[in-house]
Amino acid sequence: MTKTITLPGLIDPHVHLRDPGQTHKEDFFTGTSAALAGGYTTVLDMPNNAEPITTLERLEAKIASARAQVVSDIGFNFGTLGDNFDEFAKVIDKVSGLKIYLNVTTGNFIIDKDKLATIYEAWPGGKPILLHAEDDVSDLVFATLRKVPKATHICHVSSRAELEFVLRAKDEGLPITCGITPHHLFLTAEDGEKLGPYGRMKPTLKSQKDIDFIWQHLDGVDIIESDHAPHTREEKDSDTPPFGVPGLETTLPLMLTAQQEGKLSHDKLVSLLHGRPAEIFGIKTDETTKVEVVLEDSEITNEGLKTKCGWTPFAGRRVAGYVQSVTLHGKLVYENGKVLAVPGSGTII
Ligand code: DOR
Ligand code: ZN
Repeated sequence: MTKTITLPGLIDPHVHLRDPGQTHKEDFFTGTSAALAGGYTTVLDMPNNAEPITTLERLEAKIASARAQVVSDIGFNFGTLGDNFDEFAKVIDKVSGLKIYLNVTTGNFIIDKDKLATIYEAWPGGKPILLHAEDDVSDLVFATLRKVPKATHICHVSSRAELEFVLRAKDEGLPITCGITPHHLFLTAEDGEKLGPYGRMKPTLKSQKDIDFIWQHLDGVDIIESDHAPHTREEKDSDTPPFGVPGLETTLPLMLTAQQEGKLSHDKLVSLLHGRPAEIFGIKTDETTKVEVVLEDSEITNEGLKTKCGWTPFAGRRVAGYVQSVTLHGKLVYENGKVLAVPGSGTII
């Protein structure tokens, strides 16, 4: 007999839906359709668009594009290179947080490290600062947080060293949280070599030892974030493949598999994918927003994916379950592989 379980609508605070500017990779309709197919009812989009979201004007253009297309709820993280402080007060009520890139990745939207403390001082606070901060910049982050202790979320922790840094900062009482991506939990650097450009992302994939350490210290991890970062096959097969892999449709099936294997409890799974993201990013939850999941052995395939890029690094994997239906604010919006919601029916949070 197949077993069905109900989960609250999942929340992913870290997606790149590419709209506006790179809608050949993804757009707000396909991206939020992928969200529903993966059991997510709220996503927070990142600001590294082709024209980064660093002004109220660009944010408003993005919100207008989303308003016409989204089928899940959506919020936005703002961007900065340290030269747009006047915009902070104008956007603070319209965004979920501020994203700062301290390492190289897609779009090269990276700050001059000397500016980190000034940006921390300028940000109104209350809403979190999200950092792309790999191991090499952890001392700088520590020093900045001690000087300006504003709520900080370290995105996609990928190694033992990075997680140890977060755990030390938590021990010291600093206002820090962290997220892990499914690719850093389920793929090793060796898998990455086999995948070639389809296993290329930032941070890079790490060793089995790093992965084991993260699983052993999952108590110190706040959220699972997909870092859904679609690129076309053509781009990935080019001489300069961009960093990033899609993740919205595969994260829950992978985490359910880990739960079945005894790697985490059901309560922890719900906390990582719903409870903590809601708390950290101030997202209101709604009892009438829920996901029906079938717990049945199944295979991840490229066919039928809603993401416009049409591939996943997890194709061919066996997983413990899949999303059957999604109800958003009392309305059935996804069932048996089909998006039922009308474009634009999701809420801008
Ligand atoms: O692999 C990545 N891709 N890491 C990032 O930080 C950005 C993302 C993208 O936008 O493609
Ligand atoms: Zn990202």
